[in-house]
Amino acid sequence: MADSIKIDFQAPVAAEGGDLVVFVGETLKPSSAVAKRLGPKAVDLIAKVAAVESFKGKAKSAMVVAAPAGLSADRLVVVGIGAEKDRAGLDWAQLGGLVAGKVAGKTATVWVDLPGVEASPENVADMALGVRLRRYTFDRYKTRKDDSKPNGTGRFVFAVSDPAAAKKAFKAADGIATGVLLARDLVNEPPNVLGPKEFAARAEALTKLGVEIEILDEKAMQKLGMRALLGVGQGSSRGSRVAIMRWNGGKAGAQPIAFIGKGVVFDSGGISIKPGGGMEDMKGDMAGAACVVGLMHALASRKAKANVVGTIGLVENMPDGSAQRPGDIVTTMSGQTIEIINTDAEGRLVLADVLWYVQDRFKPKFMIDLATLTGAILVALAQEYAGLFSNNDELAQRIAEAGKATGERVWRMPLGPEFDKMIESKFADMKNSAGRHGGSSTAASLLQKFVNDVPWAHLDIAGTAMGSPQSETNKGWSSGWGVRLLDRLVRDHYEG
Ligand code: BES
Ligand code: MN
Ligand code: ZN
Repeated sequence: MADSIKIDFQAPVAAEGGDLVVFVGETLKPSSAVAKRLGPKAVDLIAKVAAVESFKGKAKSAMVVAAPAGLSADRLVVVGIGAEKDRAGLDWAQLGGLVAGKVAGKTATVWVDLPGVEASPENVADMALGVRLRRYTFDRYKTRKDDSKPNGTGRFVFAVSDPAAAKKAFKAADGIATGVLLARDLVNEPPNVLGPKEFAARAEALTKLGVEIEILDEKAMQKLGMRALLGVGQGSSRGSRVAIMRWNGGKAGAQPIAFIGKGVVFDSGGISIKPGGGMEDMKGDMAGAACVVGLMHALASRKAKANVVGTIGLVENMPDGSAQRPGDIVTTMSGQTIEIINTDAEGRLVLADVLWYVQDRFKPKFMIDLATLTGAILVALAQEYAGLFSNNDELAQRIAEAGKATGERVWRMPLGPEFDKMIESKFADMKNSAGRHGGSSTAASLLQKFVNDVPWAHLDIAGTAMGSPQSETNKGWSSGWGVRLLDRLVRDHYEG
């Protein structure tokens, strides 16, 4: 939920009480400037306590010491950055997360002067971003709040050599952080609260930032012929929606780039109903759509110089008397027909119509879709990488690089005629499920039939969007995966 963390940047200052954060390497020595400001007594104390607590200054470790008299702080938080050779690949967001996890109480002063490392304004901004991501909590539905853990309150003052530059860099990072938290919130919300209509209304809130929104209801979709998408929603008492978000920060009339999200607000499996165990997790089957909303927030709030279209397909997959059946054949907006083998392979049906609609209407430079599409991607890549499928090597390469830069990593998976063959249907142009073997690739190759040769990439985020491994910047269930990666992709290649 929206945090109320206050983040400031100042020239090197004394702590204002609370925690004082300093960084040391494996020699346990802070930078010489920090050592001078701390004074010999504090530097000595750090070395002594470190010996007792076997704190070695290793990367990703920290130690807390009561501040000695004479320092205007209550506690010293000593954060390790490891040996010199580890420091080149320092992940600043993770470092900020570590700091935010160690700080207790209301105020922290962070002396950003690391031994042997120059922190650029962007590095400092990433650290502050890490603080916000770490302090995210979702306790809207807890009537008794747990105040014992670090939460979304407090004030962090980063003491840096160039506060104006850091402040400027943080303005962009702050919007990205809010975008990630927005995506996390949407994924965490329970499905009774967030149906297709309510989700669309949350997207509509982006108009505040200058994003244009359009919402297609079922009547509009009927007219367009989106029968694959509508078929998925027909067993739900809640009507389907498509929300289109447009950020026009680029040159007027310039070809847009497009992001598409799977927004199944709840996936029961439909008539091919899922087993009961863990079904509650399927409230998160709209994480692709949540990422697109979070990304649009990030891009609009930093006024990205690009024309961007975000489109999300919002449906609920439920079994009832009017639900779609295995054996049904639907005609998609593209005119191609799909035989339904398994009503639980619904995400590809939603995306088939949305992908076709987006390329047809917007003629984008590229399309990237995000979807919690297959359990099979968890079998292949665990929760460490998202699956990347693409018909375009340059786009795939750029996504992989942005993934490395942000720590939201992807792994390229195959498409090809073998997989096309596996989804051939006896009765229709294709079928929506080909069984377990190569399940992520057969799903992706169905999607490819709806991109009309536009440069396209598909990210299967079933493993990374929720319940993913905890890190210093993610301690909750939903991760907000993809917002940082795609913001980075746009920033590095598609602005100006
Ligand atoms: N939403 C699920 C995929 C999923 C699984 C997301 C686990 C997150 C965690 C998707 O709609 C689905 O049910 N896929 C089926 C496809 C199968 C029926 C061909 C699957 O992966 O089992
Ligand atoms: Mn499903
Ligand atoms: Zn699904």
